[in-house]
Amino acid sequence: MGHDTQIMAANGKDALRSAFLEALSHTASTVNIVTTDGPAGRAGVTVSAMASVSADTPAPSLLVCINRSSKACPAVLKNAVFCVNVLRDDQSHISDVFAGRIRTEDGDKFSCADWAPLETGAPRVIDPLVAFDCRLTHSELMGTHYVMFGEVEEIFIAERGLPLIYAGRAYGTPVRLE
Ligand SMILES: Cc1cc2nc3c(=O)[nH]c(=O)nc-3n(C[C@H](O)[C@H](O)[C@H](O)COP(=O)(O)O)c2cc1C
Repeated sequence: MGHDTQIMAANGKDALRSAFLEALSHTASTVNIVTTDGPAGRAGVTVSAMASVSADTPAPSLLVCINRSSKACPAVLKNAVFCVNVLRDDQSHISDVFAGRIRTEDGDKFSCADWAPLETGAPRVIDPLVAFDCRLTHSELMGTHYVMFGEVEEIFIAERGLPLIYAGRAYGTPVRLE
């Protein structure tokens, strides 16, 4: 075990929690809008917590983690479908709207972009970098967040474009190392 880890443990639970969040701010992720539609209505939320699970489950699978206090959370659970819209580097305004940082004029988050309905009924941003249309297979509450597993039914891939990156608590774009 490294010296720094021992210091965190000695300082207790709160210090470890703060160090966890601080450490995560040093990592990088794509910025994704998880959208849903169906009997529980249309909803969406910005998430960095998205990961592939397996390409070799019966259908390819991924997961997203959504805070149980987000309005989108019960809607995704009830509709049991969701689309993961991975944003391009010129779409940070969509992230800000779906994270509740910016309010649209009419108060509807979906007014900030154009949308195309997918196979499952979940809305796709018209021009994301990529999008995964998913059916919810199961979910598990871990503390504050639901881990939601989705089986991918349809995939959108843009011909070109770069991902919007979230790192150091700021938006960025990837720089290619030669
Ligand atoms: C870049 C970024 C990444 C985020 N990642 C997550 C995440 O992975 N999971 C989550 O529940 N909230 C995440 N949030 C926070 C939610 O987007 C925000 O709390 C949202 O407003 C909650 O949904 P609501 O407006 O429906 O209540 C993130 C916000 C930003 C700006």
